Amino acid sequence: MSHCIEWSRAYAHRLPKNAGEPFFSRRKEISERLARELAAGKLPFLDMPYREKLREDMLPLLPRIKPFRHMLLLGIGGSALGARAFQRAFAPGQDEPDHAGPWLWIADNVCPGSFEALLGKLRPADTVVVCVSKSGGTIETLAQYFLAKEWLLAARGERWREHMVVVTDRTKGYLREESLRHGLLSLEVPNFLGGRYSALSAVGLLPAAFLGIDWEALLDGARDVALPLARNPASLGLHPSFALACWAKALEEHHYSQLIFFCYIPSWAAYGLWFAQLWAESLGKGGKGIMPVPAVGVTDQHSVNQMFLDGRRDKGCLFLTSRSRPRCRGFGENLPEQWSWLAGKPFSDLLEAEALGTRMALAASGVPLVHLDMEDDGPRDAGALMMLLEAATVFTGWLMDINPLDQPAVELGKRLANARLGAKSYPEEEAGLAAFLAEPRREQMF
Ligand code: PA5
Repeated sequence: MSHCIEWSRAYAHRLPKNAGEPFFSRRKEISERLARELAAGKLPFLDMPYREKLREDMLPLLPRIKPFRHMLLLGIGGSALGARAFQRAFAPGQDEPDHAGPWLWIADNVCPGSFEALLGKLRPADTVVVCVSKSGGTIETLAQYFLAKEWLLAARGERWREHMVVVTDRTKGYLREESLRHGLLSLEVPNFLGGRYSALSAVGLLPAAFLGIDWEALLDGARDVALPLARNPASLGLHPSFALACWAKALEEHHYSQLIFFCYIPSWAAYGLWFAQLWAESLGKGGKGIMPVPAVGVTDQHSVNQMFLDGRRDKGCLFLTSRSRPRCRGFGENLPEQWSWLAGKPFSDLLEAEALGTRMALAASGVPLVHLDMEDDGPRDAGALMMLLEAATVFTGWLMDINPLDQPAVELGKRLANARLGAKSYPEEEAGLAAFLAEPRREQMF
């Protein structure tokens, strides 16, 4: 594989050529930490020690779920976004005419209307429900689990168990208890593999396999990128993920506050959402962090790009392309005179030309830009990109002196929602809610 990072426009405009050096000089300390955390088994997303076990567990399970026409995935955040990215990139048939299955439905919200539509229209007999939650206790996912369980029970009686798979922690949490209680099929999320770093485990790969995606290729691509770090952490200074981390930290240091993820591989558009969650939940801490802004070429050239080009000069950009040459139709010779220059060219030339044009325009307007150019746009390439970005995220967090693997701030909202619904173990949150709701309102109707 030869993917390429093009750096010539990265340190430009307000970002001095040497802006990454103070962070690069911390490579010894960071590589020692990497070695320590790998040895302690705390970075399984990187060295993937779970890979063999995953294979052993998943291969016998697949024949049990393949006969179903529909998979209904219940999960949220890191438990859903990887699966969606895989589906959109590598099994897009569901959005295309004359699709004959399989179908994957991802319920990653508590939208009464769309959940009702799913349960109202899917046939339980044709459906496997996959409930994904690392903690096994996320209210949004559990709420959907209870409703889906009732729905299956009503239609299938005791056979409901054959329609339910859980992906959760090996030993802890309500979902694990539930799987033991009812003898449900289950796969495990390894220790220390937090939601947003778990797409390349059963969390994302079970739905990928159901859709017929080459899930082993995703893992191979990730391993290609991770191996040098896993084998020799001292080589960190040579690894592109660390170079990206130094660049990102330099952006923050120089008061850039937004990081555009401009994806010019249209079928990979959902990777923008995956990346945004990875980056934001990992790095938005202690008043620090740069906001990720996913955008899709060429669609967003006609939307937010005006702001990128001529709004506040506070943005850096990760610009993603692929060198793949998709098979597509070309323009004939019978074009109107004023469009004749398109004659004989393949449709894909337009994407390539627009990517180049936008990249140049961004660079010209003062956006420090790193160009990630993938060799191809298959699963192996996607696995490589995901590993690169996950490692870069963790190293950026370490350079920021924050913990990129937790998400303490989002916990409060979850506790408050539980308290609001009557959960008993949140007296402090209950009091907080009462005080919040008692504050005088200032309403303006419209
Ligand atoms: O990235 C994360 O850690 C979170 O977004 C989680 O994936 C999300 O909160 C869901 O958690 P869980 O998988 O425990 O249900």
